[in-house]
Amino acid sequence: MGRKFFVGGNWKCNGTTEEVKKIVETLNAGQVPSPDVVEVVVSPPFVFLPVVKSSLRPDFHVAAQNCWVKKGGAYTGEISAEMLVNLDIPWVILGHSERRALLGESNEFVGEKVAYALSKGLKVIACIGETLEQREAGSTMDVVAAQTKAIAARISDWTNVVLAYEPVWAIGTGKVATPAQAQEVHAELRKWLHANVSPEVAASTRIIYGGSVNGANCKELAANPDVDGFLVGGASLKPEFIDIIKSAE
Ligand code: G3P
Repeated sequence: MGRKFFVGGNWKCNGTTEEVKKIVETLNAGQVPSPDVVEVVVSPPFVFLPVVKSSLRPDFHVAAQNCWVKKGGAYTGEISAEMLVNLDIPWVILGHSERRALLGESNEFVGEKVAYALSKGLKVIACIGETLEQREAGSTMDVVAAQTKAIAARISDWTNVVLAYEPVWAIGTGKVATPAQAQEVHAELRKWLHANVSPEVAASTRIIYGGSVNGANCKELAANPDVDGFLVGGASLKPEFIDIIKSAE
């Protein structure tokens, strides 16, 4: 079965009520390929999830940017997977490098979060990626394999997982990975899944790229056989997000 192209927009910690309204209007007016061709998911900050969900076109879906690692309760400031399910939010982004770096989320913690979110019925965009230092030391594959392993060790069903390869050095820097660099890591990740999970999971799991994707570079990246879509930060707040969605064709 072919892997449907996936485009996620991670709005990160951006937006006012007015700005969010404008972005949604732009998305709703955009001419994009049919949902048979591309799956589109946008991820506003928690506080805007309900309004985006209720005003967004029905062929696009929403994702939260995080959720708690276990059942909710006395965890001030956290949002539980149960709450997302209750609000009918289908997707969640977990393990983003900003949370790993700034909030100290370890591979194991991310693995536990992914497992818990899946167990509650959420679909997960699980993020992995190496720093510049790690790339220059030649340890890219070791790093992303360890991050993937911490997830693989805790889940058995990959149907609802999209793996987002986001090299940290490419995030928000304007320094996009070359198509060859992205393809190389994606192909290695697929090999890793083949050897360590199963050939079926390797063949069916979408591996998307994130890091300075924009309207100008998306086509060349999308042309690679193992690049199954994108997780877009900065450009997902702009009209060019529509062009990125179109790169599915
Ligand atoms: O999750 C998306 C991301 O981290 C990439 O951000 O701004 O480089 O597209 P950006």
